[in-house]
Amino acid sequence: MKIAILPGDGIGPEIVAQAVKVLNALDEQFELETAPVGGAGYEAAGHPLPEATLALAQAADAILFGAVGDWKYDTLERPLRPEQAILGLRKNLGLFANLRPAILYPELAGASTLKPEVVSGLDILIIRELTGDIYFGQPRGVRECPDGPFKGQREGFDTMRYAEGEIRRIAHVAFQAAQKRGKRLTSVDKANVLETFQFWKDIVGDVHKEYPDVALDHMYVDNAAMQLVRAPKKFDVIVTGNMFGDILSDAAAMLTGSIGMLPSASLDANNKGLYEPSHGSAPDIAGKGVANPLATILSCAMMLRYSLNRAGQADRIENAVKAVLAQGLRTPDIFEEGTTKVGTEQMGDAVVAALAK
Ligand code: IPM
Ligand code: MN
Repeated sequence: MKIAILPGDGIGPEIVAQAVKVLNALDEQFELETAPVGGAGYEAAGHPLPEATLALAQAADAILFGAVGDWKYDTLERPLRPEQAILGLRKNLGLFANLRPAILYPELAGASTLKPEVVSGLDILIIRELTGDIYFGQPRGVRECPDGPFKGQREGFDTMRYAEGEIRRIAHVAFQAAQKRGKRLTSVDKANVLETFQFWKDIVGDVHKEYPDVALDHMYVDNAAMQLVRAPKKFDVIVTGNMFGDILSDAAAMLTGSIGMLPSASLDANNKGLYEPSHGSAPDIAGKGVANPLATILSCAMMLRYSLNRAGQADRIENAVKAVLAQGLRTPDIFEEGTTKVGTEQMGDAVVAALAK
């Protein structure tokens, strides 16, 4: 089993180093190979997704990805910006199903900005379609505005579109995930305004016929954003498009106290996957040794479960993370009075130590 390790930029290398330590501490050894990506790819090879990095990702059984992006690349032309690396990996590898669990660990109930009674016991799964929608739809660009009161001026435009097969395959992933959990699925759309999402809603409704044991409801995205902060525990599994999923998953992440706790999996049709923390590269705290490595470590657990077929090892990592939280160890993002503040490395070491028990 070969794992491609793509640390990236900002805090990426620090947090990935901790996850690698955890992988190396497992009973079974995996072949790990590291390659530059994002700003680091640009520095090393003049492109955020160097050919050799893409080739490594294609050849690997799974990919561990840190984070990409730094302000210093903001002035580069779009195809050279670090974000293009993750978008390119998703598209090139066909990673259309993005699983973003939002789980509130009981020990962190006080770290949430919401009242404990609103969030305690929270366990929801957001499934975001990841290779379509306005993120990738063509045409796009800046052109001369063809009509209306601004005719003749420059205008920016993007295209929102979803093919039937694209909606069907993500709907199947979502219904099957719901079957393994609370058997409730909420499909989030904007069918009251957008043709694309009326179509989405119709197709998801049609796929539902194959999953009569799952309760499906449809919700507009604005309402979903409101319900996520009002009564998040009403949700079990949420399925939505690329852009709505991007936005809602950040909101859901914050319910759990820190985006530094949340892993994610991006899967293709054969469960090959890329695993990354749900947070970004946080250049403001990079190099300071304070970033929370738990989202990345938990991403390794998802990797073992979904792509490497090692559910037992995944459980071990998740239990080790629960153990260090129970010991009261906290990186600054989840620190509260009465707990022990630790740095990135200490947190990684503590997880490794807890694995041994
Ligand atoms: C995410 C990120 C990416 C996205 C960016 C970095 C392109 O925000 O993974 O949620 O928008 O998908
Ligand atoms: Mn995002």
